[in-house]
Parts: sequence; C-alpha cells; structure tokens
Amino acid sequence: MERRTIGATALAVGAVGLGCMPMSWAYSTSRQQGAESLRTVHRALDLGSTLLDTADMYGPFTNELLLGRVLRQRRSEAFVSTKVGLLVGEQHIVANGRPGYVRRACDASLRRLQTDVIDLYQLHRADPEVPVEETWGAMAELVRAGKVRALGLCAVGVRGERRPGAGLFDTTIRQLERVQQVFPVSAVEAELSVWSPEALGSLLPWCTARGIGFLAAMPLGNGFLTGTLTPGQGFEPDDLRARHPRFTAEMMAANQPIVAGLRRVAARHGEEVTPAQVALAWVLAQGPHVIPIPGTKQACWAEENAAAAGLRLTPEDLQELRRLPPARGSWD
Ligand SMILES: NC(=O)c1ccc[n+]([C@@H]2O[C@H](COP(=O)([O-])OP(=O)(O)OC[C@H]3O[C@@H](n4cnc5c(N)ncnc54)[C@H](OP(=O)(O)O)[C@@H]3O)[C@@H](O)[C@H]2O)c1
Repeated sequence: MERRTIGATALAVGAVGLGCMPMSWAYSTSRQQGAESLRTVHRALDLGSTLLDTADMYGPFTNELLLGRVLRQRRSEAFVSTKVGLLVGEQHIVANGRPGYVRRACDASLRRLQTDVIDLYQLHRADPEVPVEETWGAMAELVRAGKVRALGLCAVGVRGERRPGAGLFDTTIRQLERVQQVFPVSAVEAELSVWSPEALGSLLPWCTARGIGFLAAMPLGNGFLTGTLTPGQGFEPDDLRARHPRFTAEMMAANQPIVAGLRRVAARHGEEVTPAQVALAWVLAQGPHVIPIPGTKQACWAEENAAAAGLRLTPEDLQELRRLPPARGSWD
C-alpha cells in the first residue's frame, strides 16, 4: 500500500488506516464480536493499513484491550493512535484535561495496549475547565518521557450554537493555534467525507500549510456512503445512527442521489469497485497528508477499504462528485 507521512517528524503510515471504534463503541453492540474484530485488525495490518485508530473511551477501555492482543504479537507493523480527555460515566461523557489525569490515563493506555510507546497521542476533547495549554503541556511531557511519539488533536465542529458567519471549525483552529505554541501538533483528526466536506474550508488548509497530517474520521459517512444501508431499516438504540439526523428514513431516502453518484463513478473503474472505495479515494485525493481511517469490525470490509488506496479518481470523477447535492439532515 502507498505510504503517507504525517507531521514534522514525518511519521509514515499506510494511506488507508483502520478505525477501530465500531468494534467496541457507537455501533450496535449486538454485532460486536471479539474474534472477528481481531481478524479484522490482523487483516488490515497484513494489507498495509498500519494506522490503528482507537481511544481509551471506546468501550470504554475494551477497544484498547482488544488492540493490545494484536500489538503483543505485531507491534512493529502497527502505528497506534489513541486518545485521552474524555471520561465515560453512567449517563454522560465528560472532558478531563487535568495534567495528573492525562499522565495516569497514558500509563493505563500503555498497559492496555501492551506497548511501551504510543505513536500518536490525541487530545479527544479540550476540557472547558482547564486551559488547553496545560493539558497539552502534560502531553508534551509524555513525549519527552518516551511514552508517546507525537501529539494530535481531535476537532469537533461546533454545531447548533454558532454565531452567524462563524465556521464549523473556528474554535478548533483557535485551540490549535494555542497548543502549537507549546508543542508541535503532528496530526488533526476530524470528520471528512463526500457528504461532510466542511473541513476542506479552513481546517485542512490550516493543517496543510503547516505540514500537519489529517486523519479523516467517518470517511464512509457512518456507513451511509457504502450504499449498503436501506432507508428505514432502523438502528439499535445504542447505535449512534438511531439519533443521527441524517439517518431518519426520510433523510436516508433524500440522500440517495449521493450514493448514486458514488456508484456511477465506481462503475467507470470496473465491476469490482464499490461506492465505499470511491468515497475513500475521494478523501485520499484531498491532499498527500490526508489519511482516511474507515471504521469496521469485519475483515472483508477492511480488505475492501484497504484496496481503495490503489484507486485513482480522474479529474472528471472528482468534478462529478463535487456536483453532488449537499447532504440533507443537519445537527444545526
Ligand atoms: N475523534 C473523534 O471524535 C472521532 C469521531 C468519530 C470517529 N472517529 C474515528 O474515525 C473512525 C471512522 O469513523 P466511523 O467508524 O464512525 O465511521 P465510518 O468509517 O464513516 O463508517 C463506519 C461504518 O461503515 C461500515 N463499513 C466500513 N467499511 C465498509 C464497507 N467497505 N462496506 C460497507 N460498510 C462498511 C462499518 O460497519 P461495521 O461496523 O459493521 O464494520 C461501520 O458501520 C472511527 O472508527 C474512529 O476511530 C473519531
């Protein structure tokens, strides 16, 4: 698989990574099976999808434990990205950016992952109660201590309460400016896909101008862009899509032209090419330091997604995808 680099220290990873979240979190628990998840991680590594994206809160904790079982055997083949800063409670999730907590959380992640070093340690969310420089300073100490190789920040678009004219990622960019003063940012992780292209406006250009890698989360639109979901099929109550405004039967039907466009482009590249692969190739085409991290718990899909690294979209393909209607269904 093609390799791409992220950050000033030029960390090299396979162009398509593996999002491990669906193995333990956010997508229907009844379909999470440890053995198949382990097979999926192994298959991804076999194919050169070296970047494994997890977080201590996925599970919570079980996703890192699962990866630890693979890393124990194949640490040198993997690039491990995990996250700190969110605590899962009974009914809610809270941010914790206190330096002492960050230090303890890192040691706990290292133990669960069965490794001595985390390749990319990301701040999952800034804690409104703690200046972000303090949290980032504690993370920088972990780099100096050799427990972490590089730092990243997860960006969340501020939805619903934006001032008129404010960009989705304005708050994140202000945070990034602040933490850059303390220690270099190697990667930013944020949603980027054919139906959620907002990061192209200012966040990705900000990263590109500074040689910062971009990990594209939800590159398959939480599965919608693969064309394997049916409007009205319903989701289990613990599946994030049960409450997602784009996954009502009405909005899934309204957004079918987007899937149809991906299918048309796929068909031009051969019978075997899938809408999911076109969606990932579109992300790859957004810049040489962009790494899609499609999430899956199925080895067959990890294979399909890894193969997207070899798909090159033509200027006509990209133009057709640019002309697709904007997605319907919004958090705003
Ligand atoms: N930093 C953050 O705040 C943040 C937020 C969200 C996500 N993330 C990261 O980004 C990763 C990707 O996002 P995501 O997993 O939420 O969304 P995604 O990659 O857009 O979509 C995942 C969904 O697509 C399905 N899928 C994957 N490959 C497929 C294929 N080839 N054909 C058909 N269906 C396929 C998966 O099904 P199965 O589950 O059945 O395999 C899963 O339901 C996550 O795993 C996580 O590591 C980070």
